[in-house]
Amino acid sequence: MMTPRNRPPRGLFITLEGTEGCGKSTQAKLLGEHLRNQGYDTVETREPGGTPLAEKIRSLLLDRADEPVAPETEAFLVLAARRQHVAQVIEPALARGSIVLCDRFIDSTLAYQGYARGLDIATLERLNRLAAHALMPDLTLVFDLPVSTGLARRRSAAELNRLDRESLRFHRSVRTGFLDLAKRHPTRIKVLSARASKETVAHAVARVVTPMLGHIRRGVDHNRPAASRPSPQKSQARHAIR
Ligand code: TMP
Repeated sequence: MMTPRNRPPRGLFITLEGTEGCGKSTQAKLLGEHLRNQGYDTVETREPGGTPLAEKIRSLLLDRADEPVAPETEAFLVLAARRQHVAQVIEPALARGSIVLCDRFIDSTLAYQGYARGLDIATLERLNRLAAHALMPDLTLVFDLPVSTGLARRRSAAELNRLDRESLRFHRSVRTGFLDLAKRHPTRIKVLSARASKETVAHAVARVVTPMLGHIRRGVDHNRPAASRPSPQKSQARHAIR
């Protein structure tokens, strides 16, 4: 079983990542239903977004802009949204003992603003630590798909946002980024093929997640006051940026 050093004392933090149209949002929903059916308290959320303020930042990021958006501006927007989301939603849910399923998180910043936009990865990692309050996912699922397949799915499903409309080259760099990150962090990040039917992919997801549920209580008591996160992580966060 995966036991990263900074796992929260209770709760489980799972992030879902991938290129546009890879099906991660559908899989987050299916996994959420699967876990709730088994009695686990599960919070589904997304980045950028997840709080009213962070959702406003999401609109700023994704709206088709009349002016060019600098890569650093993009990074600061997603990081600002993340800080708010972690403080308001993710940390309290983990402290309650919930399973948090987050549609995109720190690895999207590295893949999009780092690998694809060209910002320095080590700097983004430090900024991620600050924005995430040093919180790391216990498990990250990367749903992998050729970018042309994902973009075609996306085109047929919704209006394309500012980032969807980037070049094929940009999206290929994002995919390379996720696959590279998975090689760098093989314990935390698992790559699943997203080519199969959503049911088949959902089975693959359940096979990875189920062994991690051993310490999670079912039927969490919501009336209990949220415990604060352990201090070592907080002090780590304070020193994250040098
Ligand atoms: P999506 O969640 O519907 O795919 O849309 C979110 C978009 O935001 C997607 O194009 C990736 C982008 N994004 C970043 O560029 N950096 C980030 O850190 C995050 C979380 C998302």
